[in-house]
Parts: sequence; C-alpha cells; structure tokens
Amino acid sequence: MKKILCFVLTAVILLTTVSAAAFAAEKETDLSFAFASDLHYNVPEEELTASGEIDDEIYWYANRRAAMENESGWIIDEFLNQCAENDEVDFVLISGDIVDNGRAIAQEHIDVAAKFAAFEEKSGKQIYVTVGNHDAGYNSETTPEDFKRIYADFGYDQALTVVEDDCSYTANLGEKYRLISLDSCNHDASTEDGMTAKKLSWVKEQAKLAKADGRYPILMMHHNLLDHMPVQSIFSKNFIVKFHLTTADLLANWGIKLVFTGHEHCSDVATYTSSLGNKIYDFATTSLTMYPLQYRTFNVTEKEIKYEAQTIEKIDTDSLTAAIGGYSQEQIDLMNAGFNAYGKGFLKAGVQWRLTRSLKMEQMGIEEDSIFYDLVNTAVGGLRKVLEQPLYGEGGIQQLAAEYNIEIPDSNYETGWDVALELVAAHYGGEEAFYFDSTEVTIFLRLVALVLRDDLSTVADEVFFEAANKIFAHL
Ligand SMILES: [Fe+2]
Ligand SMILES: [Fe+2]
Repeated sequence: MKKILCFVLTAVILLTTVSAAAFAAEKETDLSFAFASDLHYNVPEEELTASGEIDDEIYWYANRRAAMENESGWIIDEFLNQCAENDEVDFVLISGDIVDNGRAIAQEHIDVAAKFAAFEEKSGKQIYVTVGNHDAGYNSETTPEDFKRIYADFGYDQALTVVEDDCSYTANLGEKYRLISLDSCNHDASTEDGMTAKKLSWVKEQAKLAKADGRYPILMMHHNLLDHMPVQSIFSKNFIVKFHLTTADLLANWGIKLVFTGHEHCSDVATYTSSLGNKIYDFATTSLTMYPLQYRTFNVTEKEIKYEAQTIEKIDTDSLTAAIGGYSQEQIDLMNAGFNAYGKGFLKAGVQWRLTRSLKMEQMGIEEDSIFYDLVNTAVGGLRKVLEQPLYGEGGIQQLAAEYNIEIPDSNYETGWDVALELVAAHYGGEEAFYFDSTEVTIFLRLVALVLRDDLSTVADEVFFEAANKIFAHL
C-alpha cells in the first residue's frame, strides 16, 4: 500500500546555511531508504520443538509471542536481499530489537552483524541501527558498550557524535538530513522505557547543531512517541515514551518533524501538532519477523513523504530445511505457496494459545477465595464458550443469541475464535484496519453482549448476591 504525506518542512526548520536555490539542482528525492524494526533474530534450533500445547498440524511449533523465531534468520536474509536489489533503497534504518535475547545470548548479535556486514559488502549500502530493549543491558551478556562494538560498522562508523554511557549517536543522511539515533531504552529494566531529561537535552542539542549545519534533524528510537492504538499510553504504557505528549511537543518545537519507531509491533503513522503549531509524525513499523512480515520504504523530499509497505512473500526454504530438521512437506509447500499467508496462520495459532492460557483463573492470578472469583470465573467461562462453539447451524451461537434478540450476522467464520484472531491479525497488519461497522467487529461485540446477557444473567442469584455479600463483608 502506497501512501503520501505532504507537508512543508521548511515551515518548521530555520535553515541558516543552505539556500533554497541550492536544492533546485539536486535529484527529486532527497532520501530513499528502507526502514525495518524488531527483527528479533533467534539462533535457529537444530530440530523444531513445540513450545506449547498447540493442537494444529501445521503451526504446532508456534509460540506465545507468535514470532517466527526459527525462520527469523531467513526472513532477515530475504529483507536484506530485497534492499540490495531495490534501486529506491539507498540505505537501511533499523530501530532496535535487532535480536530476541541479546541480553542473554551474545551469539544472536554475532550472527546478525555477519549478515549486515555481508549486505554492506555486497550492496555498498549503509545500515544505521538503534538499540532496542531486547538488545542490551548494563548487567547482561551484551552491554551497551558491547552493542556499539558489535554494530560498529552499522551507523557508529558514520557517527558525528556518540554518547558515552548509552548507544545514542548522530550521523548525516544524504545531503540534507541528520539522523539522531536515540537510545530510548532503560538498560537496567528491559520492560520500561529509559527516556530521561538528560537524553532529551542531548536530542535538543543535536537538533540545534543539525539546523546550524543546514540539515533537517530526523529521529529514530525504539519506543513509540505517539499513541498507535486507542489509549496505548494507558494500556500499553511500556511501549511509549514517558510523558509522550510533552516529549512530542518539545521535539516538534525543536524542529524534528519525522520520527521512526518500533517496539509495539504494529505499523501505523500518528501525528501531533505542538503548542506552537509544529507537526511531528511518528512512523511506527511492525516487527519484520511477525505477520504481516513487513518493512517500509520511504522517499522523502522537502514537500512530501511517500512510504510503502514491503512484504516478505518468500524465504529460501531449501536453506531453511537444510539447517533445521522437523519441517513436514506440507509446511514447506505452504511456505512456498505464500510465506505471508503462512505467517498469518502462525500468528493466529500463537495468539490463540496465549489467549487461551490467559483465560484461566490461575493464569490471571485470581485466587479462589477472592471476592471477584465467581464473577470473573463465570464471565471467562462464558467468553470461552462463545469463542469455541460453532457460530452457525443447529444449536450454534447465532441461534442462542437470537433468544436474547442479539443478531449475529452471517459470515464465513466458523467460530468466535476465527473472528477474534482475524481482528488481532488486522491489528498487527496495521494498514488494513477494521472499522466499527465491519462484520468482524459487529460479531465480536455481539458475542461480548451475549456473554453479559446469557451467562451473567442466569447466575445472578447465586453468583452476584454471593459476590455482593463477600464484598460487603470485606469492607
Ligand atoms: Fe520488539
Ligand atoms: Fe522492544
């Protein structure tokens, strides 16, 4: 899908040393590059193993994260091949979580760095990296210092300045831009963002220096700057920088217009207009090695930015099966028929397993003597029923719902799980959002309504009053 955003960069940046006339003679596109995030490389297993109890002939080896761990190296190879062959790609930006377990397994970084080196050697194109929370930590197998050493040829070799105690650096991109590669991670606690006043001051200084040199500053960091789904900053707060709107306001007013991020594993573009009327865009890009298996290519001029999602549609399955044992012919045939569709099946199997596990009382951490136990247990039981039972036909959910005047629309989905997983896959896909009046969202919301009316209403006497008694006794 190709998209274009138009804006006037010059309105927000005071260029002091480059005149407008100097731009006229240059080529049409100022910057052409590929941007990928969250490669989450894993060292492949020698033999496929099941990480959970997934009852599926094809995707039995899917995992809780729904990431294609064993295939990750081959997906990265295909991505780099595409970037090498694409004349529209002058260089490659990667915004962190380059590997999956970098804090514990140094070999992952060594493998990826070798792939990057081969790419630069073959294509003559430069890679610029940013560190992610899976990549390094102060008390881990890969420290920030190690990260800078291992990826020395992938951004740091071009650096104008490198921060001593984290992985931030700056480098010029083309004739008109300067990359500020910001380490937004907390190297003490992987799960939290690490933005500090000190880091922001550094960004301010670098933006000022870029403008003084007649260059537009652009920012790349691992954590998101803006919400990429409703109230992300509340429900998914570790994925977005602290005080994100204040930070966005400051960055926009310092002349930063373009921000490239990852971490959330979904593709989206969000924009914010600062108190002084300056616009800033956050291009969040999904994980390369999870469905929809995408990265983006960008063409930037002073007036517009064109971006396009690029999809991994194939990998070298001969090489894959030579390295890893245990793939069936059916799996390989499906991968060769369409690797992206295979990735979607893999994602759904992993997500279903994770959610099924989560819908257990012990998994939710609700003890049997909790005052909420019976209520939650009833609601969860009802939800599992409407997700698992056939939607249509004799005794199906559609028929049951009709008794409560809830109309479940006809569709090709067999169960509520199929609908829910399609919505999850669409969320990861980012570009193909389901709207509130779509069949999928309608079915899902009506299934929830059915749980509320059917299950909770029929147990009101036994459960609600008992719960109410427990709550009053507790007060
Ligand atoms: Fe990630
Ligand atoms: Fe991350």
